[in-house]
Amino acid sequence: MTPADMVARYMRPGTLSLGALPPLSLYVHLPWCLKKCPYCDFNSHEKSGEVPEARYLAALRADLEAALPFVWGRRVISIFIGGGTPSLFSPESIDQLITDIRARLPLEPGCEITLEANPGTFERDRFRAFRQAGATRLSVGVQSFDDTKLKAIGRVHDGAQAMAALEEASRCFDTFNLDLMYALPGQTMDELDADLARALSFQPPHLSIYHLTIEPNTFFAKHPPQVPDDDLSSQMLDLIIERTGSSGLERYEVSAFAKAGHRCQHNLNYWQFGDYLGIGAGAHGKLSFPHRVVRQIRYRDPNKYMEQALAGAAIAQDDEVARDQLPFEYMLNALRLREGFELARFTERTGLPLTAIQKPLAEAEAKGLIERDWQWVKPTARGFDFLSDLQSLFL
Ligand SMILES: C[S@@+](CC[C@H](N)C(=O)[O-])C[C@H]1O[C@@H](n2cnc3c(N)ncnc32)[C@H](O)[C@@H]1O
Ligand code: SF4
Repeated sequence: MTPADMVARYMRPGTLSLGALPPLSLYVHLPWCLKKCPYCDFNSHEKSGEVPEARYLAALRADLEAALPFVWGRRVISIFIGGGTPSLFSPESIDQLITDIRARLPLEPGCEITLEANPGTFERDRFRAFRQAGATRLSVGVQSFDDTKLKAIGRVHDGAQAMAALEEASRCFDTFNLDLMYALPGQTMDELDADLARALSFQPPHLSIYHLTIEPNTFFAKHPPQVPDDDLSSQMLDLIIERTGSSGLERYEVSAFAKAGHRCQHNLNYWQFGDYLGIGAGAHGKLSFPHRVVRQIRYRDPNKYMEQALAGAAIAQDDEVARDQLPFEYMLNALRLREGFELARFTERTGLPLTAIQKPLAEAEAKGLIERDWQWVKPTARGFDFLSDLQSLFL
């Protein structure tokens, strides 16, 4: 099916009625890494030989061009270049990529452009060149500063490289993110405290802290490491909340902490059930039309993706989100935000009337999992602690 046929299908009449189209973001996936981490289930592939940067950029251009009819006339509010390890690409390629995007999609003034970087790919001039190429925000995958822990989770960098990368990120970028993980193999409270102190010493405007998850089909799923139990990891989360709070970082989402004015616009748009076009190998996208919400997935294998994209057919799968799935999908995102969501936004973004969630909202309130008035719904502290129970009420 050609993109024109797909648009015709997306635009047909339907039972939903979206009041307005939401803000649009762009996600670009660059799927290669220096080495595959044993816990990682992202679409990332250990590079063997040179990364085919030029061919991949050509595929992304073709993918984007074919996708333009899905988003005609809409401006992009944020771009996220993620992976994999985007910082493996040369600054010249990142410059070309951002230029290619700008030439095809209108960007809102001040559009946030995030690039993910791994300290193992750090060279001083490289980070500065990414800034000059147009990235406005760098996200540095640190995970830990402790060399023993970094080794235990199979990272390619050590603590010293992580610190050098952060120093340069804070010098070159007005805003940056630091990724940490906790509940690492054998981690103690003191070790986590030391990681937090070190992370906070760089005064990151944004911090993302994830509980190490053992994902199916990873090396760790087959060879599970000894990790902290639930009691210890919940004490760890308490420590994280205390330390970040006293450093002026607000926990605005389950795993995201930011100083005022430094929330990630791109992720916020996901959590507010905004739209995103996803290009690149295995990229996911969510796009709204007057009568439906559609999810798209690009071919996952990098070589297959390049072949398909260059032939004008990068989309492996596209599905309309079923009407009765929309409340749950909305809540999976919106309830991750500390501030919750405006009721009017639910209707605007799903095209459903509020009656569609009346019953589960009443039940969540009776269980003390949400607070609400006529305008807003907000998870309570208890609701935030038992988020999956809260979200499953909307299934
Ligand atoms: C897609 S990764 C990309 C960042 C970059 N490739 C890196 O690892 O440095 C984004 C972040 O997700 C987190 N992450 C990935 N796999 C995880 C897992 N199994 N459990 C918890 N966090 C994970 C890590 O903090 C990582 O920095
Ligand atoms: S560097 Fe990041 S994306 Fe690559 S394998 Fe490790 S965690 Fe996954």
